[in-house]
Amino acid sequence: MANVTVIGAQWGDEGKGKIVDWLASRADAVVRFQGGHNAGHTLVIDGKVFKLSLLPSGIVSGTMSMIGNGVVLDPWALRDEVEKLEGQGVVINDDNLAIADNCPLILPMHRDLDGLREAAAGKGKIGTTGRGIGPAYEDKVGRRAIRVCDLAHLDSLDPQLDRLCAHHDALRAGFDQPPVDREALIEELRDIADFVQRFAQPVWKRLKKVRKAGAKILFEGAQGVLLDVDHGTYPFVTSSNTVSGTAAAGSGLGPNSTGFVLGIVKAYTTRVGSGPFPTELDDEVGQGIGERGHEFGTVTGRQRRVGWFDAVIVRQTCAISGVTGIALTKIDVLDGLDTVKICTGYRLRGNVYDYLPSHAGEQAEVEPIYEEMDGWSESTAGARSFADLPANAIKYIQRVQELIECPVALVSTSPERDDTILMRDPFVD
Ligand code: IMP
Repeated sequence: MANVTVIGAQWGDEGKGKIVDWLASRADAVVRFQGGHNAGHTLVIDGKVFKLSLLPSGIVSGTMSMIGNGVVLDPWALRDEVEKLEGQGVVINDDNLAIADNCPLILPMHRDLDGLREAAAGKGKIGTTGRGIGPAYEDKVGRRAIRVCDLAHLDSLDPQLDRLCAHHDALRAGFDQPPVDREALIEELRDIADFVQRFAQPVWKRLKKVRKAGAKILFEGAQGVLLDVDHGTYPFVTSSNTVSGTAAAGSGLGPNSTGFVLGIVKAYTTRVGSGPFPTELDDEVGQGIGERGHEFGTVTGRQRRVGWFDAVIVRQTCAISGVTGIALTKIDVLDGLDTVKICTGYRLRGNVYDYLPSHAGEQAEVEPIYEEMDGWSESTAGARSFADLPANAIKYIQRVQELIECPVALVSTSPERDDTILMRDPFVD
């Protein structure tokens, strides 16, 4: 089967945008299946930079793009993003963009609540992107969400609004905030409804049709497995399942359709927001890597925390997500270092761990056990074949592969689409 599911195998920001764009140019359809506009994907095509948060990366290359039911959709953010991309010359219409009509909406009250909670949380702050993601997912499972299909029935929204506002008004009162202005909300929804509705349809049905026609489908994950609400560094996680299994539930195709699972892995580690990070570097080496890697969030502009490659967590996330092969990105950022380190295990209160324990306190306490390797002074930037890489970079990649117990399928050597070394083609595997 020629389908591919792409997921981040660390804490997000692994460079999925470029890989997805590269794969999207060879796919017939691209589907986002979880998350929302908290994601930030940067694509560089012929020197032109495109920043995406909500739209599937395939949209830039003109590939049929779908937003599945597992996504939480902020309709105003959608309109802004569509208009921005159109301003850059990207064509977006109801032929190349479909939005699941059963997607829950992110509303202004969700953004409010996200901000209010974070402000009140003190040291317990999660460091969210402030986009209302968590509160919107809570309302989905709380069965009080307004969904895309409701935009066609705004005149009969009262029972849903009663349920939604009863919940939010009580929470808002606790934060000394006025109740939700229902009239204003309805007006805002009326204003945006037509824009969203032109793309709305049962995405599962569209997928069934394209699958039957033999199309190659690319499932595009957002964030990373360590931010998964079950498997990540809870509670410092996002509010969706970011693992590959979500590709099926979040789009409306069965688990036998999701194909090759490509885990995107950065050659070092980064994280934004709070939470445990065993290999974090608080020194000049970390600062240098962060600067060379331009480690600033696409969505919030926040500086990312930087650390050595952690083989323990990637081995774990590859197992949890059934990763078939990885794409190793940003290897060029490590160019010029005398030595490079890889974390191969953790020490915790006299014991050695070959996995990250589930308890947040223990995750914060584990001490990395490192293996040190010689670095390389030559440049790997722009290499397009394995033979172009310095011997020590090859050794590093091979060691990563051994430690994570998963083969390397691709190596990315610059943000440019074509600066990619292909060892195993996910679409023909
Ligand atoms: P939320 O998804 O906005 O609720 O944020 C929860 C956590 O996930 C925070 O630590 C965010 O920094 C992190 N996060 C959310 N989206 C991304 C992403 O696309 N890349 C990296 N981190 C993310």
